[in-house]
Amino acid sequence: MRTHLCSELNESLIDQRVTLCGWVHRRRDHGGVIFIDLRDRGGIAQVVVDPDFPEPFAAADGARSEYVLAVTGSVRRRPAGTENPDLPTGAVELLADGIEVLNTCKPLPFQIDEEDVGESVRLANRFLDLRGPRLQARIRLRHAIVRFLRRFLEERAFVEIETPILTRSTPEGARDYLVPSRTHPGNFFALPQSPQLFKQMLMISGFERYYQIARCFRDEDLRADRQPEFTQLDVEMSFIDEATITGMMEQMVRELFAEVLDVALPNPFPRMSYAEAMSRFGSDRPDLRVPLELVDVKDLMGGVEFKVFSGPANDPAGRVAMMRVPGGNRLTRQQIDGYTEFVKPYGAKGLAYIKVNSASQGREGLQSPILKFLPDDVVTAIVERSGVTDGDLVFFGADKARIVNESLGALRLRVGRDLGLVEDEWQPLWVEQFPLVEYDETEKRWQALHHPFTAPAPADLDKLESDPGAVLSRAYDLVLNGTELGGGSIRIHRPEVQSRVLKMLGIGAEEAEEKFGFLLRALDFGAPPHGGIAFGLDRLAAMMSGSDSIRDVIAFPKTQKASCLLTNAPGTVDERQLRELGLRLRQGVKSEPGAATG
Ligand code: AMO
Ligand code: AMP
Repeated sequence: MRTHLCSELNESLIDQRVTLCGWVHRRRDHGGVIFIDLRDRGGIAQVVVDPDFPEPFAAADGARSEYVLAVTGSVRRRPAGTENPDLPTGAVELLADGIEVLNTCKPLPFQIDEEDVGESVRLANRFLDLRGPRLQARIRLRHAIVRFLRRFLEERAFVEIETPILTRSTPEGARDYLVPSRTHPGNFFALPQSPQLFKQMLMISGFERYYQIARCFRDEDLRADRQPEFTQLDVEMSFIDEATITGMMEQMVRELFAEVLDVALPNPFPRMSYAEAMSRFGSDRPDLRVPLELVDVKDLMGGVEFKVFSGPANDPAGRVAMMRVPGGNRLTRQQIDGYTEFVKPYGAKGLAYIKVNSASQGREGLQSPILKFLPDDVVTAIVERSGVTDGDLVFFGADKARIVNESLGALRLRVGRDLGLVEDEWQPLWVEQFPLVEYDETEKRWQALHHPFTAPAPADLDKLESDPGAVLSRAYDLVLNGTELGGGSIRIHRPEVQSRVLKMLGIGAEEAEEKFGFLLRALDFGAPPHGGIAFGLDRLAAMMSGSDSIRDVIAFPKTQKASCLLTNAPGTVDERQLRELGLRLRQGVKSEPGAATG
């Protein structure tokens, strides 16, 4: 239909006849002459329609926003003074002598390049939203990322293999999406939370290097960086250790940023143990752009009269930590009250602080409601250990370690942002040496921190039964600017180790057989040492395109309530379909058509 893309119009085509196809981006009627900005996938070109050509002129006169046109004419230089330096095609225009209206368009719910449109209107009209420059750029960037990743892995002999969507529950720990089986009434498929078990199976099958751009499904509470269905770059390798896989993956990410964004990431990426990350940043995915750190003062507080501090200081599961805020002295009472409210949802019962007027004057130079509870030697130690200088402020958290870490960890990011301390750069970080398990207080049992197939550190094997909480794992996470981009581990490949770990997790032989007997069986038949990683592709694309939400890099995303406003999924089904599946809705459950539109 077309001879050129709009974006290809330039001075080399002057006096040539071309045909362009695209959408009416804007139409301006300049008293007698009509200008149309015609847009296609490449960009925008200016079309001029003169009343001397009555037929195209009538077509242009009737055209409205987003009409679809094929325009034929000759290219000419724009008259001096009318060039548009902002447009790549801005030196030339197309003088139309033929216009075919390929399709019309109803009045739009919003203009294609409008910025200020509510998200539900956008999502309900996603086909139009996607037409705009914002999402066009993001979806194309995502494609560039995937293309790079495929090429990188293919150059290294990885084989792309698809794994089932209709499958059994996989062990990532979120709630499953279930699909009822018609042929086996009362039985359900689970949609995979990841291809974890299948990729391990493929290693046992001898493929050695696998990857997949894999769709994963998790029915969990949604946030800006979580979707119920999302995409992983999923990788697995045989005969490797942590250094091989993290080294190769880090090279992949570094080359990706260089090629797609022209950004040079550090070489090598810094590494940090889980314990250090928790101690210094209160988080296993620290945002290193924020130059604030937690410092322990538990050892100072055991004997103080202030119960808020001495209680947790004498509790083995407690933590007392401080965070120095440079220049924080200027925070007002109201701001500090605001931060005290901010940490409450994390379980913090308060937020003690000390303002530093003059660090050299000891107690006299400080200002705080808690000073009177602290003896001189403790005050001196706080000043020395925090390294405060005049004009600073120190926040304190005292409670169970988990509460202190979560509240001060979150406060760190918040204060960093509020005070403009966030450094504008890319900060990748490998976090490693995770504990293998953590104790689940509500369920009263050990839970895998990563998943039950993660290998324990060889040195800790003998502690598996005697002291599970002290066993480190061979897992690693890649964190970028405080977001967990990817995570993986060296797996257990020996059946007896796998049995011991499952037993420690309280997964009995029967349950194990029922849930993942196929993997356990396969381990008995010459499973090679193997390991891998999965990256959240949506998160990677969102970060690289500067988007706040992964919805911006997913063509057809779901809302916070896990519905699709475009298709109104999920939807109701009729009685006959339920009967075929052997299902009946429980009493009191109303399935209303259109419930998903909200
Ligand atoms: P994990 O559960 O850590 O590991 O997931 C890997 C990465 O997937 C991304 N991610 C998500 N992205 C969007 N929406 C979600 N709901 C969501 N959940 C996770 C994150 C995360 O780092 N099978 C293991 C990997 C392995 O061991 O190889 C796994 O799935 O970026
Ligand atoms: P209170 O004696 O409860 O009035 O608390 C005195 C100061 O300690 C106030 O600034 C509180 O915000 C703070 N505070 C109370 N509980 C905690 C806690 N668990 N961690 C840190 N600060 C606290």
